[in-house]
Amino acid sequence: MRILFLTHSFNSLTQRLYVELTERGHDVSIEYDINDVVTVEAVRLFQPDLIFAPYLRRAIPEEIWRNHLCLVVHPGIVGDGGPSALDWAILNGATEWGVTVLQANGEMDAGPVWASVNFRMREGRKSSLYRNEVTEAAVTAVLLAIERFSRGDYVPLSPGAGQADVRGQWHPLMNQSDRQIDWSTDDARTVLRKINSADGSPGVTDRLGKELFHLYDACEEDSLRGKAGEIIARRHGAFCRATRDGAIWIGHLKKIAPGERTFKLPATLVLNEILAHVPEVSLSLEFSRDRKTYKEIWYEEMGEAGYLYFDFYNGAMSTEQCRRLLEAYKQVRQRPTRVIVLMGGHDFWSNGIHLNSIEAASSPADESWRNINAMDDLVEAIIMTDTHLTVAALRGNAGAGGAFLALAADRIYARTGVVLNPHYKNMGNLYGSEYWTYLLPRRVGERGREIMENRLPLGAKAAKRCGLIDDCFGKDADDFVAQVESIVAALAEDVSHETQLKEKQLQRTKDETSKSLLHYRTEELERMKLNFYGFDPSYHVARYNFVFRVPNSWTPLHLARHRRVSRKIAVSTNEI
Ligand code: COA
Repeated sequence: MRILFLTHSFNSLTQRLYVELTERGHDVSIEYDINDVVTVEAVRLFQPDLIFAPYLRRAIPEEIWRNHLCLVVHPGIVGDGGPSALDWAILNGATEWGVTVLQANGEMDAGPVWASVNFRMREGRKSSLYRNEVTEAAVTAVLLAIERFSRGDYVPLSPGAGQADVRGQWHPLMNQSDRQIDWSTDDARTVLRKINSADGSPGVTDRLGKELFHLYDACEEDSLRGKAGEIIARRHGAFCRATRDGAIWIGHLKKIAPGERTFKLPATLVLNEILAHVPEVSLSLEFSRDRKTYKEIWYEEMGEAGYLYFDFYNGAMSTEQCRRLLEAYKQVRQRPTRVIVLMGGHDFWSNGIHLNSIEAASSPADESWRNINAMDDLVEAIIMTDTHLTVAALRGNAGAGGAFLALAADRIYARTGVVLNPHYKNMGNLYGSEYWTYLLPRRVGERGREIMENRLPLGAKAAKRCGLIDDCFGKDADDFVAQVESIVAALAEDVSHETQLKEKQLQRTKDETSKSLLHYRTEELERMKLNFYGFDPSYHVARYNFVFRVPNSWTPLHLARHRRVSRKIAVSTNEI
């Protein structure tokens, strides 16, 4: 089936649907929602059987929905409507929520329902629910809608038109006043819920000192206490603020400054002066699984396996975070265990160097250089590990350098729903480092070139088929982790463990003899130097656009396949 995605951007949900539908043989093309004229043109060029709007912020032009079946993916239960669906569900403490696939008509979110799937709500950020529960439910609902459409006899009903279980209702856009924090009266749970309802976007507005900020990346603290509203501690990029009954950590802020374009940054980078006298409260690497506090890197041991977690906000890894992770990794390597499992974060395993921190630096080129070198040091330490077998366990997606960081491990497992973006070119033709020129061919051979050039997301199943990863399984993160734990326990106890280690050492020696790691690194970094310091500013421009969320003004041709075909036709017509 020819399926066109009309979408605001190629975000995580759209990427996952793209992966699922192409995997099933559908011919999928993508058009960004730029304006009505461009949308109409895209539909005319592609002549789709079906149009999906997985992530749209504007209404579909009437000319299109009147002549084509357009199905909107709405992150809400049947009957729910409005632009702040998940925000209200979180703020109102809904215990169950859902995704509805409905037909576009003249009324927003009120068209006939083609499919709906519900899920149990979890306490978490809006973006985390979106990337996990909403995405999984959306995949099921979209596949069901396609099946019903193909059957040809399905008659969708409008909510309210005879549907018995319609619990949802229309909600207006959520305003800042709906989730404003009152630090003197709100308890920690309420504060957390308010911040979560607006994380990743738009963020809850709050005053700190004389200035206003948007707050993100919050979590509860279980032992530090203070006067309600007081800032009582800092740790790495975050600060801790007391509530009347407990305390909340806040990891990221965006300054609100009229006339100034700002972006999210680690809180302590933004609040330097306010935090000058706030005590730094450190945390040991290893601590109880149940502790509630701000933690980016932590470690657990189970039998003869060590699990190293690195849950960096949005998977972005700054120079300082890479260095801290490397120190942690070195400590973990000293432990008398046999397997090290790199667990990454819950939502993202890793997304490579920290583009926001780089943008904020006085010299973004110098900071890019420091950051990529810190990443390379970390990758090198993993590749060079000859005391343990290493496993990368991807609960969440990985992109760019983060995907290649995973390839440094001996075994790579991913949750089935994970989407990988093992390429750099979307960031202004960045060449990339992280030893990818060594790690990618050793896994996929010649196919590496195609993966890098295509710049497309790769689902876990396709990644397994081409050898990029070893296996994928698990219906959700918990199920995936449970299966990883049993595989890893077996690996650690395997009688052939020593033999496997010896083979690994031999292979490394052989590889080093044919071309040294230093050689790979030097070659890659020479190219990166040109990206950072050369005449072509593409990387700096792309990073600026990414960090400042500059809206798309056209759809790249690697996504808009309908435009590629038309260009080819145009070219051949000219030749004739
Ligand atoms: N540095 C800083 N922030 C990053 C980041 C990075 N490397 N990668 C992702 N983010 C942030 C985004 O800005 C966004 O922030 P928000 O919370 O303000 O919305 C958030 O993470 C989610 O990213 P988004 O692009 O919306 O997620 P996605 O799942 O739709 O797409 C990627 C995932 C990996 C394809 C996309 O984020 C990306 O291209 N990231 C940049 C990767 C990169 O080029 N790294 C540098 C080279 S190693």
